[in-house]
Amino acid sequence: MPEIRLQNLRKDYGALTVIEDLNLSMADGEFTVLVGPSGCGKSTTLRMIAGLESVTDGQIMIGDRDVSRLEPKERDLAMVFQDYALYPHMNVARNMSFALRLAKMGKSEINKRVAEVAETLDLTAYLDRKPAELSGGQRQRVAMGRALVRDAGTFLFDEPLSNLDAKLRGQMRAELALMSQRIKKNMIYVTHDQVEAMTLGDKIVVMKFGQIMQSGTPEDLYRNPANKFVAGFIGSPTMNFLNAELVEESGVLHAQGAGFSIPLPAQRAASLQSHKRRNVHLGIRPSSFTQSDAGIPMKIILSEYIGAQSVLVSELGGERISIEVNTVAPIKAGETRNFTVQADEIHLFDPQTEAAL
Ligand SMILES: Nc1ncnc2c1ncn2[C@@H]1O[C@H](COP(=O)(O)OP(=O)(O)OP(=O)(O)O)[C@@H](O)[C@H]1O
Ligand SMILES: [Mg+2]
Repeated sequence: MPEIRLQNLRKDYGALTVIEDLNLSMADGEFTVLVGPSGCGKSTTLRMIAGLESVTDGQIMIGDRDVSRLEPKERDLAMVFQDYALYPHMNVARNMSFALRLAKMGKSEINKRVAEVAETLDLTAYLDRKPAELSGGQRQRVAMGRALVRDAGTFLFDEPLSNLDAKLRGQMRAELALMSQRIKKNMIYVTHDQVEAMTLGDKIVVMKFGQIMQSGTPEDLYRNPANKFVAGFIGSPTMNFLNAELVEESGVLHAQGAGFSIPLPAQRAASLQSHKRRNVHLGIRPSSFTQSDAGIPMKIILSEYIGAQSVLVSELGGERISIEVNTVAPIKAGETRNFTVQADEIHLFDPQTEAAL
């Protein structure tokens, strides 16, 4: 499959610019996830790639073909929509084979493909049923199957799991991951759910207000967020942010705030010299706290038991923070415990630009 490139892509609705100068390459066989809050332009971007929405400026390249102004059917794409739009009067088999029949494919080839995809999606037993006789999850799979039988070069998904309950969502997510490993096509997947993005994507593209905030592997984005927005968006429970000042004490740089002074690793001191005595935003993931008598005393306001983990809510530097601990001996609300912070897992951000320091 050829590489897909978005070059200086722009979309205006009248005077409103919803996508501004977007640049992105998606490699051959890559699973790319566009993720971001509601209204950030994910669907618009996907619909421009599909050819369902016109491009105001810029190019969409598939390999060395500029497809920006081509009809959808000339782009070798298959799309799964959020509201799966099945034909109610057709059974599952006919819904799945609709595009193939339209393309005048031979009957035996159609039957073969439908049977194969139905098998993969666990729909073999339902091929004769109408959509009204299926559960939401089964309908979702039919919508998926309808795209998959087409054997297109690229698959586009717009929140395909959003109508499912949590359990089915997890199941379908795993199915999709397995399927994409097997067929190795280009997949572009839109979601506002960061867990879905992290578990499915080879590459995640985090968007805000029609712009890319950062793109990279899930590990990249989790370990080295480029700015405060990405840091707060990726990871669950979300990162804690505290106001702090960078202060040197006996030769060691510390992030200090109301009630805490956290030494920073020596290897970071050099790049932070110019920020000495300046305010920063300190980012600490809930999992970066460790219980230790030498640590900062924190009163637990709330203890959320999840199972193997518990999330404790406390206060530090005047902010409410979350702490993730293994539930060995449960900690109750009202207790005070001491915690140290894993210094090499600390994130610092410029308070003005919000860029990572
Ligand atoms: N036809 C339209 N006319 C005017 N504005 C539009 C139109 N379609 C979308 N928009 C605006 O463009 C912006 C991006 O919309 P888009 O549907 O791409 O968001 P999204 O990231 O997919 O959000 P969601 O997660 O809610 O689906 C929004 O502010 C939306 O109001
Ligand atoms: Mg959308």
